Amino acid sequence: MTARIAVLASGRGSNLRALLDYLHALGSARGGDVVFCASDHPGAGALAVAAEHGVEGIVLPRSDPDGSGLLCTLREQAVDLIVLAGYLRLVAAQVIRAFVGRIINVHPALLPAFGGRGMYGERAHRAVLNAGVRVSGVTVHFVDGDYDRGQIIAQWPVPVYADDNTATLAARVLRVEHALLPRVVDAVASGRIALDTEGRVRGALPRERAATFVFDAPESTLARDIDTALGA
Ligand code: GRF
Repeated sequence: MTARIAVLASGRGSNLRALLDYLHALGSARGGDVVFCASDHPGAGALAVAAEHGVEGIVLPRSDPDGSGLLCTLREQAVDLIVLAGYLRLVAAQVIRAFVGRIINVHPALLPAFGGRGMYGERAHRAVLNAGVRVSGVTVHFVDGDYDRGQIIAQWPVPVYADDNTATLAARVLRVEHALLPRVVDAVASGRIALDTEGRVRGALPRERAATFVFDAPESTLARDIDTALGA
């Protein structure tokens, strides 16, 4: 049986698209299906991406401070796994408690640096450029009660060049998000990666393998390298 995945997204939905396309390409080998996409913005591109793919779109209530509305929807739809794909709201504590080890977030920088409240999208890339670091990247992690915290499942580095601006860096990072997030989601959905009872990640991207990346590799090589690193 495949896991039932809910995607929460506030923005344009390119990560949702990458996930849907990846799971579709895996066919019967996929570990999960996206059962709905929920957004806090009625006009979010993610809802249009969901509709294009025949996936239900849900607009979240403007105010749901304790997450009861969201939790109710997740339960009604028998959701197994929640993916935050560019979701800007903090997930309420009771939802996090109900889904320990079953919420995944993608962040467009190497956490724990350049993360936390307000550090999303262009702001994260701006902070990376201002700090003058030479390497940024993508982090996929389990979600706990705070912004961009929780056990790291996978990180993939991306170079920062001297002439980068937020747009060029964001594009280079996004390409890796699109390759890494779907693979990690499928691995968690199928049980190859899990959070154990001690709160440690089992089956995560091995640390030594994360150093085998190829900067600016062509699409096919990037995907293959990530597959190899995840042991797929
Ligand atoms: C991505 O960079 C994601 O990491 C960040 O917001 C962006 C969302 O992009 N948190 P999209 O909506 O998936 O296109």
